[in-house]
Amino acid sequence: MARKRIIAGNWKMNMTPSEAVKLVEELKPLVVNDDVDVVYCVPAIDIVPVVEAVKDTNVQVGAENFYIEDKGAYTGEISAPMLVDAGVKYVIIGHSERREYFKEDDAFLNKKVKKAIASGLTPILCCGETLEQREMGVTMDWIRLQIKSDLAGVAADDVKNLVIAYEPIWAIGTGKTATSDQAEEVCKGIRELIAEVYDTDTAEAVRIQYGGSMNAGNAKELLAKPNIDGGLIGGASLKAEFGQVVNA
Ligand code: G3P
Repeated sequence: MARKRIIAGNWKMNMTPSEAVKLVEELKPLVVNDDVDVVYCVPAIDIVPVVEAVKDTNVQVGAENFYIEDKGAYTGEISAPMLVDAGVKYVIIGHSERREYFKEDDAFLNKKVKKAIASGLTPILCCGETLEQREMGVTMDWIRLQIKSDLAGVAADDVKNLVIAYEPIWAIGTGKTATSDQAEEVCKGIRELIAEVYDTDTAEAVRIQYGGSMNAGNAKELLAKPNIDGGLIGGASLKAEFGQVVNA
């Protein structure tokens, strides 16, 4: 079964609500493509205005974070039911910036994956190695550890429907993109891990993105690789260039 391409923008902590609506309007004619799932993962403050702005278009909205409880005394947090009620369909989990700055470890991220699925959200589960780990030759060992821990206890049918994003940390925001061969090697390795832990059907169904300085100049080559089903785009998602990535 062919996997439908998915191109997601990760806006990170950018775009005020008014800037967000302006960007959505600018991108509207540029991101039309029935063969691609297009997702804007936006800061919490932008969710309601962006969901409204993308209504009746091909774009779905994702969140960049949420907390694992449905309600309670968690000042500043946002829950999965709140996201679902607001029309959010996807949520990024385990981005390297949350692992680093907010100390989210694999045990906590595994709870997030399960909570997202139970709430009806599609996880975009991030993994990736540091430059030091790559230079030490332990990239795949590290990625396998992350994925096995983050997916512990998650059923095969749920894994089939989620997205895994391979984001080498040394390529994020640096303009230093992994080569298409480097990206394919790891994405293939992730798919092989899913086949090992689950089964071939699950491995063939799960969609695997590349992220890390993907842009209009390199998207076509990266997306031509057999195990790369899409991209998780940071900087290039904040401008008209994102339309060229969607249609690469
Ligand atoms: O989540 C995607 C992001 O980490 C990639 O950022 O700016 O390198 O495309 P960027």
